[in-house]
Amino acid sequence: MKDLAGKHIVLALSGGIACYKSAELCRLLIKAGATVQVVMSAAAEQFMTPVTMQALSQRPVFGSQWDERAPNNMAHINLTRQADACLIAPASADVIAKLAHGLADDLLSLMCLARPVIKVPLLIAPAMNREMWQHPATQRNLTQVALDGAHVLGVGSGDQACGETGDGRMLEPVEILDEVISFFQPKVLRGQHVLVTAGPTFEAIDPVRGITNLSSGKMGFAIARAAREAGADVTLVAGPVSLPTPRGVLRVNVKSALNMFESVMDKTPKATIFIATSAVADWRPESTSERKIKKDGSGLPPSLHFVENPDILAAVAQSERGKSRALYCVGFAAESHDLLANAQAKRLRKGVPLLVGNIGPDTFGQDDNALLLVDEAGARELSRDSKLSLARKLIADIAQRIRAGV
Ligand code: CTP
Repeated sequence: MKDLAGKHIVLALSGGIACYKSAELCRLLIKAGATVQVVMSAAAEQFMTPVTMQALSQRPVFGSQWDERAPNNMAHINLTRQADACLIAPASADVIAKLAHGLADDLLSLMCLARPVIKVPLLIAPAMNREMWQHPATQRNLTQVALDGAHVLGVGSGDQACGETGDGRMLEPVEILDEVISFFQPKVLRGQHVLVTAGPTFEAIDPVRGITNLSSGKMGFAIARAAREAGADVTLVAGPVSLPTPRGVLRVNVKSALNMFESVMDKTPKATIFIATSAVADWRPESTSERKIKKDGSGLPPSLHFVENPDILAAVAQSERGKSRALYCVGFAAESHDLLANAQAKRLRKGVPLLVGNIGPDTFGQDDNALLLVDEAGARELSRDSKLSLARKLIADIAQRIRAGV
């Protein structure tokens, strides 16, 4: 099932060079399963032709409140009545000012004012020069539209079309898409602080070598994203992987199991949910050589001694025991065989209420997975699906357990 299947989005473009990004955004929304109705202000049509947006959205574009195509001649009413959301991208300083004051002198502003406020949420992706962005009038207007119920997305920072550098760029199309998808997810973890570990750890032998494992981090990153979509504050302690950070998630990069342990212990006091997905290396070399270990000509490998790494999940679960506040701990089990028995035993060993089993070799590096949720009462399977879909199901399950107090 596509993320925006069944959603009808009114995509409104106001004037700005960022209009060129809205063509791509329109495609992405449609690819994600939405139907898109484009509305353009007169200024937007200076930057992008309605022909392009019509071809991409497969629907005639609306630009004027006097458009005679609608039998009732009321485009400003009709356009939002079937919509699930109205997204203004780019939202110029001018259109934000109009919204803040309830002005309605063109189709775009008129349509926003005439929309059913509760039923049709308004998402705003601002785009403007950095001075315009910083101007107190713009910031005041943004505060006002947010108070009036609009969902104001952030802006990017960097080189601007005018040659200046700073805040005010419109978010990239894929970032806006993620924001829209996230907006529609149920906010079952609002108010929660979720701490997630993800990826492998790397245990250095010398400056150029080390031991690690095949974990890609994808499941943990998907869980961090799903928790964020569900409204939680999310901190992701990530081992060495090059995956992009999910939007809105605070990422802390670590290398070794000891680094991960320290970082997790530092973040635990603020967390209300801890989800340990990382494939932490069980052992590390007792000492790390400061220089590259060279072959000595004997034909014999160097002798390496290993020591066990701390068990991060077990240590967190243990340290929370008996405390008045509740930290809900969830473990993962990467197994190669006997999933149910191993996961049950691991749940007890780690002292956590919920342990999620998966077959490591079947999922490492892949985009899909199958999960087995093991708790005190038994086991429940989440059948093979994309990691993001499974992550959303797992988050919904955890939220439900927390609500039910189990
Ligand atoms: N874990 C951890 N710290 C470790 C080892 C594991 O926090 N040093 C966590 C993992 O993130 C996962 C759970 O414990 O949530 C189980 O990890 P797994 O690698 O499956 O099991 P191990 O505890 O390492 O046991 P074994 O290797 O014997 O299966």
